[in-house]
Amino acid sequence: MAQTQQTSGARQTFGTRQIFGTSRRSFLRDVGLTGGAGALFATMGALGLAPTAQAAQRERPFRAPRASDFTLTGRAAAKVVVVGGGVAGLTAAYELGKAGYDCTVLEAGDRTGGRNLTVRGGDGTVDLYGNRQRARFADGQYLNAGPARIPQWMVTLDYCRELGVPVEVFANTNADAYLFNASAGMTEPVRYRTAKADVYGYVSELLAKAADKGALDQELTADDRERLVEFLKDWGELGEKLTYEGGERRGYSVVPAAAGTPGVLLGDVPTVSEVLASGVGRYFSFEFGFDQAMPMFQPVGGMDRIPQALTRAVGDRRVRTGAVVSGITDTGRGVTVTYTQGGRTKTIDADHCVAALPPNILARIPHNLGPGVQRALEAITPASAGKIGLEYRSRWWELDHHIYGGITETDQDVTHIWHPSHGFHGERGVIVGYYNYGADADAYARLTPEERERRAVAVGERIYGPKYRTELASSFSHHWRQTPHLEAAWHDTPGGPDHPRYKPLTEPAGRVHFAGDWLSHTSAWQHGAFTSARRTVTALHARVLSS
Ligand code: ALA
Repeated sequence: MAQTQQTSGARQTFGTRQIFGTSRRSFLRDVGLTGGAGALFATMGALGLAPTAQAAQRERPFRAPRASDFTLTGRAAAKVVVVGGGVAGLTAAYELGKAGYDCTVLEAGDRTGGRNLTVRGGDGTVDLYGNRQRARFADGQYLNAGPARIPQWMVTLDYCRELGVPVEVFANTNADAYLFNASAGMTEPVRYRTAKADVYGYVSELLAKAADKGALDQELTADDRERLVEFLKDWGELGEKLTYEGGERRGYSVVPAAAGTPGVLLGDVPTVSEVLASGVGRYFSFEFGFDQAMPMFQPVGGMDRIPQALTRAVGDRRVRTGAVVSGITDTGRGVTVTYTQGGRTKTIDADHCVAALPPNILARIPHNLGPGVQRALEAITPASAGKIGLEYRSRWWELDHHIYGGITETDQDVTHIWHPSHGFHGERGVIVGYYNYGADADAYARLTPEERERRAVAVGERIYGPKYRTELASSFSHHWRQTPHLEAAWHDTPGGPDHPRYKPLTEPAGRVHFAGDWLSHTSAWQHGAFTSARRTVTALHARVLSS
């Protein structure tokens, strides 16, 4: 397993390529590498990502339906059945509700939120393999098993503001978190800042020396060369001879303090060969990601504060949980949805339906929406991801390691280890002991919860030492591919949602409209669910107004 990971650097840095295919983001990274900042910026403009394009987007903001839209039109808000009580379904009901639409949300699970799941003490799950778990986390402790971080540009934060969900900073990177590449021969972790100083230092040295020797004279004028070398001296902390010799950016073994304690720099700067062989360089593009750059945010108290607030805003009486849909029929004049709830089969008739289920689940529900819809649904494939929350009796990572939030990156099957971004200096805390995807997530899913804990703790102990085991109080693991009614962490939509193949889903099929992050350009983000729901609401409302 470690071998596969070793050959797949992008994977450890979050795996944009692996998760999303050849995505717009990896494309941008490539442009940035080969074309420089100017080319990157121009390309971003063309793709609608540069500030000017973003400003242009803001000039056409979403306008929520209003009751007054119906004044003097002789029309009335319609009856809508929303299938799926995740973020997309709830948002559709919430926005339509502003104009008085009569919405009913059918949710198969016993709670709303879909993949937005926060696990607290007392919460229980049964996965598709039959594993039963009940969380034993202490009061105030939780695991965001699904979404857990929000970039500041995403509409998710606008909904937090509108719904009164307080947010706090989520530390997505931390200079003092660790990097651990066992497959490269590391026996102990290196601090992020240390590895970064070495990588930036040596890359700067090599480039500065090449430029200085004239090796880049085809590409650079004399002025360019001089400016580049000046920049690299600062960027890589190079000495007068353009060599990297370490320095305080790497960190200290004894930190500077009062007079008499100037500090002791970390010794033994590795050679350039050692740094390249360690493979740590693969981790540093993560923070450049358009969707992963700091600062990021999380709702205070758990990510599910968002669906909870949405559910309240929609109105509890409009949301039916435990309602497993078994048929969607467009009758030409309306939509009939059949579902079972509490062992009884029921139907609901509405003027329109918003189908906001994961595509892999929707594809299994009998419908009369046509083969194009079915083919499009089946072209979208579900992906695996899992997390384990390890609750500790003490916050030893703060006390002993001086790590407050942020992520330790590994080439192990746990992939990422997250330190909590809240509850600092508290008594307890929950570390995410693995956040992995694909084959690693599936391998952990096949274990019992006890075995998952044992395996994750064994990895963490190699990085952090014995307290990773001895201070453990309880754990809870969650795997999305094995979660009833969802069976996916996110989805791969080959070619992207604007590919003609998905037209039967991006346009209504009769009286059924679709919504979900999987129909957005930000799959695997709540932003995708929110914006897809807004698009659907806009289309449905326009249709009702013009009908
Ligand atoms: N959006 C998800 C994450 O940030 C996949 O991990």
